[in-house]
Amino acid sequence: MSNNSNLYYLILAAGKGTRMKSKKSKVLHQIFNTPMLKLLTDEILDNKQEASIITEEKSVEIKNLFKGERHINFITQAERLGTGHAVKLAIDNLDKKLTNKILVILYGDTPFITKDTINKLAEQINNGSDVAVAAFEKDTENQYGKLIINKNKLEKIVEFSDASKEEKKIKLCNSGILAINHTAFHLINKINNNNKKNEYYLTDIINLASEDKYNVSYSIIDEQEVQGINDKADLAHANKYYFEKQRKKALEAGVTIIDPDSVYLSHQVEFGQDVIIEPNVIISGKVKISDNCQIRAFSYLENCHIGSDNIIGPFARIRPGTKTENDVKIGNFVEIKNAKIKNDSKVNHLSYIGDAHIEENVNIGAGTITCNYDGFQKYQTKIESGVFIGSNSALIAPITIAANSIIAAGSTITRDNKEDSITIARAKQQELEGAATKFRNKHKKN
Ligand code: UD1
Ligand code: CA
Repeated sequence: MSNNSNLYYLILAAGKGTRMKSKKSKVLHQIFNTPMLKLLTDEILDNKQEASIITEEKSVEIKNLFKGERHINFITQAERLGTGHAVKLAIDNLDKKLTNKILVILYGDTPFITKDTINKLAEQINNGSDVAVAAFEKDTENQYGKLIINKNKLEKIVEFSDASKEEKKIKLCNSGILAINHTAFHLINKINNNNKKNEYYLTDIINLASEDKYNVSYSIIDEQEVQGINDKADLAHANKYYFEKQRKKALEAGVTIIDPDSVYLSHQVEFGQDVIIEPNVIISGKVKISDNCQIRAFSYLENCHIGSDNIIGPFARIRPGTKTENDVKIGNFVEIKNAKIKNDSKVNHLSYIGDAHIEENVNIGAGTITCNYDGFQKYQTKIESGVFIGSNSALIAPITIAANSIIAAGSTITRDNKEDSITIARAKQQELEGAATKFRNKHKKN
């Protein structure tokens, strides 16, 4: 099933998440650097596919997370009366938008669901099911809803709190993720709250559908994929799972990772061919690393673009907005922020380069600082091609260092210079002959 245009996604996220013991909404807690809700939408909503999120009333932060993303719509559930209530609210609210659609129900606290699983559910609907459930098998004791199978057919789902002692032992569990074809939407109206929790259970739709001779089906998916995150222990487990997944993905893509367990990658990292990653590297956010790059030990890269044949680190920090071209070298204890560095340029040791534009073939000496901030505003530094900056220079922005010029070591540069010049801007050296002995004698204790 490749055409997903008949799917409409509904993400339930009106939970309080009390077990997180946090003021923050549960779905905003982060897996690495991404709020779990965003992780889910990143995976599922390609091509700006339309979706709705059910939230509680005060959910400004959730809305902010999707600012400017017009394909995401919010539905407020003022009273949290259960998953069945939330879905009814959405169907009433979305009305014509759901004409002839398959509604896919996702949970904001279950962020690892994959497109493959959703495609499986959609396929079941396309093959004649009215409702399709994503289930998983779990041997150990748990509190999930249980799938009751009768004569090889899914008959109903019993919530744990309403289940009999025997039913509680069933291994086939409900992930909560399901797809409902438009043919079965009206069944939602029949859901009542006659149960232990007095909630409108969405899961009751299965029983209602099978009673009315609708087709219901389920597919079994990986348990890890539907792990729910309810407390900080779950969150820690989710992070671990996330990182393992990203490492596996990178290794499968052909990246050489010397010590995978010590490398932390985000789901938005894109690798070229023959990239080598040394131990203790963190790559966070949206990052592209092109062919033949070596990311050396203890480096931290964030929202940046690294050109091919670069050597980064060890101990380099590449901050957002950095873009390097090819054959660039960024060495140890170098911080780069919001800077463009063109072909064959080098910043090899102990430097800070921020808000800068560095042309080709530039050599930045050890300890060079672009002084980009006066406490109020940020200013740009431009270094033209072929420039050599001597060690321990301070370049006070806004400033342009002209092509092929040399800045003498230890200079503090405050004005633009001329092409091909040598600029020396440091105090003149004085030498007092024999003064050292005199000085020592003066301070000698009697
Ligand atoms: C639900 C399923 C259960 C399944 C489990 C998997 C029901 C009745 N039960 O149980 O069969 O095994 O998930 O994790 O669906 N929410 C709202 N509005 C509401 C109620 C819930 O938006 O009124 C949201 C929650 O924020 C959460 C999701 O829906 O993201 C699931 O609700 P929750 O109460 O956690 O359901 P479970 O008891 O875990
Ligand atoms: Ca839950």
